[in-house]
Amino acid sequence: MARVKVRGKVFSGLGEGGFYVSIYSKSFKNVLGFTPYPGTLNIKIDGDLSEIKRCLESGGVRVEPPRIPGVKLGAVRVYPAWLRGVNVYVVRPDITVYKYDVLEVIANVYLRGLLGLSDGDEVEVEVECR
Ligand code: CDP
Repeated sequence: MARVKVRGKVFSGLGEGGFYVSIYSKSFKNVLGFTPYPGTLNIKIDGDLSEIKRCLESGGVRVEPPRIPGVKLGAVRVYPAWLRGVNVYVVRPDITVYKYDVLEVIANVYLRGLLGLSDGDEVEVEVECR
């Protein structure tokens, strides 16, 4: 299982993604080689989750949290992925309330703008599992 394809719908979260991506931006830069757009594009997966669960549990690259005195932050994992031909990364915090039905995607571009995405639009994401 090198790659898994899932389909899902774009949705808006609580507006916290930008804050977290900004906090981790240096760490992302170290690992990914670019500073991501400050936010996460959320995708609610339709259908069976067993493959994506196995994929996300088996692979990814660990990104260490920044050290901020007095603030407890966890590591996250990133997985190379493709969304409508654009190279993106799925981000998954080691500690998260989300089950495997939500993918959080980061990229070096504002994906809604580049791809003309709105809430409810259906997209396919191909995730690299190793
Ligand atoms: O409000 P929400 O938590 O969904 O979003 P956010 O993480 O604060 O990100 C701000 C906005 O940018 C949201 O509409 C995201 O869907 C969008 N976004 C994007 O289009 N491309 C990215 N690479 C990251 C976020």
